[in-house]
Amino acid sequence: NARVPLIAGNWKMNLDHLQAIAFVQKLAWSLKDAGHDFTSTEVAVFPPFTDLRSVQTLVAADKLPLAYGGQDVSTQESGAYTGEISAAFLAALECQYVLIGHSERRTLHNETDEVVAAKVTAALKHNLVPIICVGETAADLELHGPSAVPVAQLKAALAGVDNAADIVVAYEPVWAIGSGQAATPDQAEQVAAQLRVTLAEVLGQDVADKTRILYGGSVKGVNIAGFMKEPNVDGALVGGASLDITEFSSIVRFQ
Ligand code: G3H
Repeated sequence: NARVPLIAGNWKMNLDHLQAIAFVQKLAWSLKDAGHDFTSTEVAVFPPFTDLRSVQTLVAADKLPLAYGGQDVSTQESGAYTGEISAAFLAALECQYVLIGHSERRTLHNETDEVVAAKVTAALKHNLVPIICVGETAADLELHGPSAVPVAQLKAALAGVDNAADIVVAYEPVWAIGSGQAATPDQAEQVAAQLRVTLAEVLGQDVADKTRILYGGSVKGVNIAGFMKEPNVDGALVGGASLDITEFSSIVRFQ
């Protein structure tokens, strides 16, 4: 397929802005030294909000071929929303992407499908590419099987999306996040294929064909190649392993 793979590193609440500068510099050099072709596999990092200005400055100054984005975004445009960060702010920092609906936001911050949909709309309004995160818990898996919850979450998240939108979907089974117990490539493929069918139903086949679907959940250097062989898996959303330059580089260079 013509989809350019995307390897995304979600730092979660790790690395302050000084650590971020050192990390991004080292990561870019490590990948360049290894001869990584950034046009064949795109690399993006998702630092905490407080790091984004430093990352923007470094990426621009050193012309680094790395994309970056926020880990969350407000549903609101501006105003009296203490603690929130708007899509306009992220766009002003030249973010290309923003994570939306990560399971940690859904479970720890009670983000509903409606909130996720509103965040997707807010991101698209400011030309940010939303990485829409979906995934089932272990209990969901037992009760409803593998695809039902991720498919329902995706449908809900697409409520305000039209078929001209550039989006990315990340399938992250909650039971595989940070657990060391990744899904099998076959499990990831099955759900990714269903998510692509859903994209086709809601946004049309053209959008479904061009939209990248990532797998996330205990991705490491040793298991990435298996996922990337699957026809409907177009990359990875990496948590823990994205904080280790050697490990993350080996994920990026999965071939
Ligand atoms: O956003 C990333 C995911 O939550 C995966 O985290 O690679 O530490 O399992 P993990």
